[in-house]
Amino acid sequence: MVSFKLLSLATFAAAVSAQNATLRYMPFGDSITEIICWRALLWERLQTTEWASVNWVGSGKTENNCGDNKYDRDNEGHSGFLAINIANQNQLDGWLKTNPADVITMHLGTNDIVQQNKAVTDIIAAFTKLVNTMRTHNPKMKIVVAQIIPMGMGSYNTKIQDLNKAIPTWAAGMNSTDSPIWIVDQYTGFSGSSDLRDGVHPNASGDKKMADKWYPALITALTAAKAEKLKTREVEFVA
Ligand SMILES: *[C@@H]1O[C@H](CO)[C@@H](O)[C@H](O)[C@H]1NC(C)=O
Ligand SMILES: *[C@@H]1O[C@H](CO)[C@@H](O)[C@H](O)[C@H]1NC(C)=O
Ligand SMILES: *[C@@H]1O[C@H](CO)[C@@H](O)[C@H](O)[C@H]1NC(C)=O
Repeated sequence: MVSFKLLSLATFAAAVSAQNATLRYMPFGDSITEIICWRALLWERLQTTEWASVNWVGSGKTENNCGDNKYDRDNEGHSGFLAINIANQNQLDGWLKTNPADVITMHLGTNDIVQQNKAVTDIIAAFTKLVNTMRTHNPKMKIVVAQIIPMGMGSYNTKIQDLNKAIPTWAAGMNSTDSPIWIVDQYTGFSGSSDLRDGVHPNASGDKKMADKWYPALITALTAAKAEKLKTREVEFVA
């Protein structure tokens, strides 16, 4: 009886430390996730909350001259990448193997439209693949998907708006209790002329707008991920 109890406690302790209560958040996307400063602003904003210890994860460590030497730079933003190519080449699979996550934000589709004028239906099909990959790695993944920002050059915004319009219906169809998808509208209120530094990437005012839009959705996702972990631990304890 005594040895059984000791074994149970040891098993419980091992289970808790193995799953590590620290939440892991992956910012995932293209250059609008990689070479920008909204991640720094968002990280700073979390520091005065209960989410200060969230571990930001990803293979990217780019220094973006954001004037912030403290923030957790880890991210999975890949400049120039298309959602369609990431999906077809199964790249997210490897990235999540190296850096598992509980919560992920995705801002993708810009390069599909700007570089290669891909069809909205093909971009949405890629999003489906990417969400399935996220859930293969973590069936409880909490997912935040952006309706993407406008461009300040070319005439891409009609198609960007078409993609953004398709996202809510797609996301509702993919939604699940274990792995919810929340949409963040990064388009509305974002100016292609005054919030971009080069026609594509946010400047200081654009970064602030993006961080402000991500923030409530990220909090919602982290809250759900934390509740999930506590639930799992209770089940293990009772067992
Ligand atoms: C959990 O992981 C974080 C880093 O991700 C580490 O700092 C912390 O010590 C770990 N905690 C436990 C209990 O293993
Ligand atoms: C998905 O479900 C969650 C509730 O679990 C809800 O908050 C969210 O708005 C839903 N997402 C979509 C795109 O309908
Ligand atoms: C952002 O960039 C635009 C265009 O380059 C400029 O007009 C605006 O003043 C900039 N705003 C900030 C806050 O940097």
